[in-house]
Amino acid sequence: MTAPPRVAAPPRVAALIVAAGSGVRAGGDLPKQYRELAGRALVAHAHDAFANHPAIDEVIVVVAPDAQTRARSLLATARIVAGGETRRESVRDGLDHVTAPLVLIHDAARPLVPAAVIDRLIAALVEADGATPILPVADTLARDEGDRLGEVIPRAGLIRIQTPQGFRTAVIREAHARWPEGEEATDDAQMVRRLGGDVRLVQGDAMLEKVTHPQDFATAEARLAYESRSASGFDVHRLEAGEELWLGGVLVPHDKGLSGHSDADVALHALTDALLGTIAAGDIGTHFPPSDPQWKGADSAQFLQHAASLITDRGGRIDFVDLTIICEAPKIGPHREAMRARIAALLDLVTDRVSIKATTTERLGFTGRGEGIAAQAVATVSVPRT
Ligand code: CTP
Ligand code: MG
Repeated sequence: MTAPPRVAAPPRVAALIVAAGSGVRAGGDLPKQYRELAGRALVAHAHDAFANHPAIDEVIVVVAPDAQTRARSLLATARIVAGGETRRESVRDGLDHVTAPLVLIHDAARPLVPAAVIDRLIAALVEADGATPILPVADTLARDEGDRLGEVIPRAGLIRIQTPQGFRTAVIREAHARWPEGEEATDDAQMVRRLGGDVRLVQGDAMLEKVTHPQDFATAEARLAYESRSASGFDVHRLEAGEELWLGGVLVPHDKGLSGHSDADVALHALTDALLGTIAAGDIGTHFPPSDPQWKGADSAQFLQHAASLITDRGGRIDFVDLTIICEAPKIGPHREAMRARIAALLDLVTDRVSIKATTTERLGFTGRGEGIAAQAVATVSVPRT
């Protein structure tokens, strides 16, 4: 009997994100890594890029000793450890917690980390001690002599170094241990090189540009790629005598009203589900269980606004919503503009981005018999690409 060929498991890879700086050059009330880009802290962007990458097994975030509570509130699943006075000390402190044989060391100040760069670094580490992403230098370089132009530095052969940088954990630990105290290094690759280690160059990415100065936030925001997503929602409620008819956020005069646990606004419910669908956040029942007495008679506007806030919390925006209300009566036409205005106000949109349509079912089925009203909705949103 021959044993099946053994395939070696790929080595485990840790991500070590240093976020213990004070961001002096960026200014502002908070250190830059805690300021928001498209609704999420810079450090959360960087953390999620690694946490969501299938090759990364552990993520360790190094923060200032007095920022651990803030970091914990932003990064529920990360290992958070305390850093030091300089970037180098913060890396060294973080390395103590790495258990994987390979580590990618990254600045939280570079919030947008393409998965392809992570892949290139890990591939390079099959043979090398270390690897760093690089970009070419496009501008002419020269010495700054106050208000005078100094000597031009030929840019041929010069490169720009980014993070994340990948290493064999044992090698980068040794480089830190042997680095002379008092001397500063702005990155880790140069430390491994100083030891005589083999550091490979891989292609970097403009997305990795560091946020250093106040104007860099706007540049990073512009670089963030959005993706368009559409999702649908559907709902039905029963029409009964003695109920108010809330439809599309508007009280519509009618001899019957919709019954349900909340105010039973079938149109807002369908729309809420469509919005939740765009971010795969479950459905209205996930967020507002009908079994919960606090939603009895509730104004469905709050369900809709909650769904919208989940989208904006992740830096997304609602581009368009389209509703179809299916009923024999009442006639929707006379109320269409009021519904559009109400929904637009609830979602903080211009009315032009809200469409309301209605149809009968030719007296067929439960809607045709006036036993209930159905609604379907489609929502289109833009969310930062994950
Ligand atoms: N860093 C760190 N520990 C320090 C200093 C810096 O973990 N003692 C981290 C920063 O949080 C940042 C990265 O190292 O993610 C790169 O440093 P830099 O861009 O210089 O950030 P700051 O030091 O915070 O900014 P500044 O130099 O403008 O104060
Ligand atoms: Mg600094």
